[in-house]
Amino acid sequence: MTIKIGVPKEVREGEQRVALVPDIVNRLAKQNIQVSLETGAGALAGYTDDYYENAEIAASSAAILGGSNICLTVNPATNEQIEQLKEGSILIGYLNPHSDLERFNKLKAKKISAFSMELVPRISRAQAMDALSSQASIAGYKAVLLASNLLGKFFPMLTTAAGTIRPSKVLVIGAGVAGLQAIATARRLGAIVEGYDVRAAVKDQVESLGAKFVDIEIKAEGDGGYARELTDEERQQQQAILAKHVAAADVVVSTAAIPGRPSPLIINTQMVEGMRGGSVIVDLAAEGGGNCELTKIDETILHNGVKIYGPANVPSMLSNHASELYAKNLLNFLELLIQDGAINIDLEDEILSASLITHDGEIRHADIKEQLEGAST
Ligand code: NAI
Repeated sequence: MTIKIGVPKEVREGEQRVALVPDIVNRLAKQNIQVSLETGAGALAGYTDDYYENAEIAASSAAILGGSNICLTVNPATNEQIEQLKEGSILIGYLNPHSDLERFNKLKAKKISAFSMELVPRISRAQAMDALSSQASIAGYKAVLLASNLLGKFFPMLTTAAGTIRPSKVLVIGAGVAGLQAIATARRLGAIVEGYDVRAAVKDQVESLGAKFVDIEIKAEGDGGYARELTDEERQQQQAILAKHVAAADVVVSTAAIPGRPSPLIINTQMVEGMRGGSVIVDLAAEGGGNCELTKIDETILHNGVKIYGPANVPSMLSNHASELYAKNLLNFLELLIQDGAINIDLEDEILSASLITHDGEIRHADIKEQLEGAST
């Protein structure tokens, strides 16, 4: 049986990425895998239909979703898309495993094997399939460019005939994948950079990029390499120390996140009011509620002369490279599933097992199962 992979055009408003780029389609075609794309699926990432020489281009997403053994998406499949999926097929993409859980009952009812790219474990073997990292790195880079566009200052030091310009100061809050890339980008542009995180383990990484680590002596390492939520007392301690660093910064890029939880609130209104007029905050955590109390999703607001921007879906702004990296993540993931031209879901495989939410008419993910079906006895 020939394996058929389908890629619908993304339906999320403003989305410019596509799940497969032509180079990856060519590689799949060499393995005798048949790829169908919805017409125009790659256009906003720079790939019009004619770039996809080895794919079949279909006019309707229903034909793709209903006719494929494996469907690949960037954004979580919508209810309408789920309805169109072929019973018993495989769905791989972002699935947003923390909200709108009713979708998983629908996937279960259709016996879909649904793999969530967010749940790929952060282990060495899975690095090449780590879409959270590939996309976060893009967001971190772009956040600094967005900030530099809003800032009425140079980033680097400049010596001119009219005088010397001092370099801008950038503070990056949350030094995970996005934050580290933001630090590296701000350094490349010549700013003086500080980085802060509640995970002490990142101190060396921040320093190796030429930034200073802001040490607040709160250690909040949580499960799986992620941070845990701070207590109220810890948060007050954090804000008291961080306020001085925020006040000194021309640009703050915030990226702090806790999986499945609202974004931690780190920059309160008082801290914003302590900043100089003309300073800029780019809040990458806006979609989860924001790290800054004043953030409004997808808006730039002005508060006391400080600009606060909370962009949504930043990876989509770099749609070409974001799609290229995401498609490579998917290709590497597919290699776990396809052996010798056949699909084989090895439930013993740590990566497949951790990311598989529904399979064979069951919800396999323990937390989601418990929330939808109640505690098991
Ligand atoms: P994330 O996107 O979940 O969060 C961003 C950063 O915010 C994290 O560094 C977190 O510690 C920090 N943060 C959370 N609450 C905070 C607060 N109240 N104040 C300040 N900072 C706060 O993180 P990301 O980038 O997804 O990384 C999560 C983990 O995964 C890390 O341990 C990272 O090293 C690990 N990782 C492992 C990989 C691998 O080996 N395959 C690849 C990429 C990441």
